[in-house]
Amino acid sequence: MIRLGLIGYGKAGSAVAQVLRGDPRFELCWVARRTACSEGQTLDQSEVPLIGLEDINFPNWLDTHPVDALVDFSVPESLMEYGEELKDRRMMLVSAISAYTEAQLNYARSLGEYTRILCSPNITLGINFLIMAAKLLRSIAPFADVEILEQHFKEKPEVSGTAKKIAESLYLGADKITSLRLGGIVGHHEVIFGFPYQTVRLTHDSIKREAFGTGAAFALGELALCSNGFYTFEDLLMKKLREQLAVH
Ligand SMILES: NC(=O)c1ccc[n+]([C@@H]2O[C@H](COP(=O)([O-])OP(=O)(O)OC[C@H]3O[C@@H](n4cnc5c(N)ncnc54)[C@H](OP(=O)(O)O)[C@@H]3O)[C@@H](O)[C@H]2O)c1
Repeated sequence: MIRLGLIGYGKAGSAVAQVLRGDPRFELCWVARRTACSEGQTLDQSEVPLIGLEDINFPNWLDTHPVDALVDFSVPESLMEYGEELKDRRMMLVSAISAYTEAQLNYARSLGEYTRILCSPNITLGINFLIMAAKLLRSIAPFADVEILEQHFKEKPEVSGTAKKIAESLYLGADKITSLRLGGIVGHHEVIFGFPYQTVRLTHDSIKREAFGTGAAFALGELALCSNGFYTFEDLLMKKLREQLAVH
């Protein structure tokens, strides 16, 4: 069983904690947030300790509460706060942080020399699979017209970062993204391939934040089988795909 420490217990982290706690491959040993917690505080209806990094000495905490991997759903800066501990203790890292600077990403890459590191600005299994499938179809049919449609709740002001990432992966300009803002849609992404005599639509709908947990669990399971290094979600999916192709 892989022992885990989760950093970040906000909107995403609390949903991820639920998924990790329910997965028999993992033992969620503790969860850390930034602000102080009362002594002995635990996650709702569990014995999993909830700690505040502001008021503890993290290396001392790790001495008494060792884990095999950290899962990060906090802020970009925290990588620099625990990075040396990853290195010294050879802990794996699955980081979902979406907004690392280039310097922070370079630091994460350098940690791959000592342990297994995964950074993924989009950690849902579904979106990563959609991107992989869209890239494959684009390479098979470069003559097809391709457009991206994204739909989100009315209040979301900006173009979806995921839609931009899909466009980038397919070498499409931002003008190929159409955004619709309607009611309470959580997140819909669609890549439409227009052939002369047929249309192919690859779609993904987000239902709940727990999907981030499913992606983190997949990444942890795969990363545990890898050697030291820096990986993207696409690397792990491609490895899986190659294994499947070798079997059939
Ligand atoms: N890759 C993906 O697909 C994906 C999906 C969702 C979210 N994310 C990323 O996950 C992160 C969290 O998103 P969110 O919506 O859950 O944000 P949020 O609700 O604001 O939660 C942030 C959490 O991080 C904690 N935190 C802040 N600074 C910290 C520090 N220095 N050390 C440890 N913990 C710290 C906060 O502690 P307090 O509770 O004490 O304030 C809080 O628990 C963001 O970076 C976001 O980009 C990625």
